[in-house]
Amino acid sequence: AKTRHFKWEVEYMHWSPDGLESVVMGINGQFPGPTIRARAGDTVHVELTNKLHTEGVVIHWHGIRQIGTPWADGTASISQCAINPGETFVYRFKVDRAGTYFYHGHYGMQRSAGLYGSLIVDVAEGEKEPFHYDGEFNILLSDWWHKSSHEQEVDLSSNPMRWIVPQQQRECRLRGNEQYAPHILRVQPNKTYRLRIASSTALASLNLGIGKHKLVVVEADGNYLQPVSVDNIDIYSGESYSVLFTTNQDPSNNYWLSINVRGREPKTPPALTILNYSPTSASRLPNSPPPVSPRWDDYGSSKAFSNKILALTGTPKPPTTSDRRIVLLNTQNFIDGHTKWAINNVSLVLPPTPYLGSIRFGLSNAFDQKRPPDNFKHDYDVMRPAPNQNTTSGNGVYVLRFNTTIDVILQNANALRANVSEIHPWHLHGHDFWILGYGEGKFTESDVQKFNLKNPPYRNTAVIFPYGWTALRFVADNPGVWAFHCHIEPHLHMGMGVVFAEGVRRVKRIPNEALACGLTGKLLMNNVHK
Ligand code: C2O
Ligand code: CU
Repeated sequence: AKTRHFKWEVEYMHWSPDGLESVVMGINGQFPGPTIRARAGDTVHVELTNKLHTEGVVIHWHGIRQIGTPWADGTASISQCAINPGETFVYRFKVDRAGTYFYHGHYGMQRSAGLYGSLIVDVAEGEKEPFHYDGEFNILLSDWWHKSSHEQEVDLSSNPMRWIVPQQQRECRLRGNEQYAPHILRVQPNKTYRLRIASSTALASLNLGIGKHKLVVVEADGNYLQPVSVDNIDIYSGESYSVLFTTNQDPSNNYWLSINVRGREPKTPPALTILNYSPTSASRLPNSPPPVSPRWDDYGSSKAFSNKILALTGTPKPPTTSDRRIVLLNTQNFIDGHTKWAINNVSLVLPPTPYLGSIRFGLSNAFDQKRPPDNFKHDYDVMRPAPNQNTTSGNGVYVLRFNTTIDVILQNANALRANVSEIHPWHLHGHDFWILGYGEGKFTESDVQKFNLKNPPYRNTAVIFPYGWTALRFVADNPGVWAFHCHIEPHLHMGMGVVFAEGVRRVKRIPNEALACGLTGKLLMNNVHK
């Protein structure tokens, strides 16, 4: 195993993600940031310097469990203090498992500002993937906004809330060397390719298909799947997949690869690129139309797709019983007229002192010591707007007993307006969980009988469908403090998340740089002066 060294500078720069020049957050002058490529067992060492002049920054390594390095998880207010302008912070962690991952900002809405990139982990030297392929491509999906993330933050927090609207792209003629030119997939006939896809979107749920080509889904979030052949795949923010496709079509044509919006009425045209068969010219337009994806509101097909995703034999299996069940009701509410999201009626607002340090050093005035609720009122009607639409903010923590098995039931409900319930992709830091099942309406005790304990997918992101529930199980075996939240950036910003803490007393060394703010910062100063 090797140590892979990177020296990065985060800065604002001009870039044209979609043909209109904007200010984006880049790394070493690049957007998206550089791709990290390592092998399972390697150590990744990133020296990150904040070159933003007036704001802090952190980077989260999405899908990397940070076993033994909870301080390197890159979550502001949770695992570390934001890195101040001009300062450098060293992220050093092991990538223990092959897979398709990505990284992104985890402070305010910096992910929406363009702070993200790919992280690919290959199998360890001498090991093999459980499938064969001749070549690979990597696509990191995102959505782009013409308003700055700062303006979006103010819009979302205002009273009344101004919802963010994606902008229509202008028509343009491409020469191919533009910053927004499509990424063409050049292929040889009669070969098998691996397409890695991760979604770092701020908001959009997407669907990807390649005209006339089947996709065989083989990996999700760094875990292998029972291969399943589909025409197109749904991908929610926070998820990653690998699909295999075989170039068995007429090589004198090219084919469309198309990405469409799901779950929200699209105001933008599909994103297109082409699969270019050698030796056909890349400028030859396909003679078959782009693949059709399901309608944006066809939730039946979304559910059918999610239910097809099952673990490959040999994937770790869930414990057959759990020690604790936490039921999390997802609702949209108001605080003094401001629109918020709340979990069991608590809208998350992070404290100034990161939890990892404050819990490790027992600083009980760093955040609310009252534990948030494990359930909601049993007579709550998830099919209707809440009878009381007001909520309160909080920063309490779910303390999980070390090494116990936790079930989380994510319960969706009606939002503020009648007949509205949205999709939310929930992402857990520091662990993978088993997705034991999806169901309609309100979860009841008898649903436990339907849990899939045989081959549930093992992942770090799971979606909840409108008016439905999703059941997850994980083992609280990774000492640290971990975010669990909706991966839609504006939703998290509006409070849609919770915090889990487990085994924090076992955490050994936390670098001082991760602690140098708030009450842990004061503690450090006092120790120096003693
Ligand atoms: Cu990719 Cu906490 O998120
Ligand atoms: Cu959400």
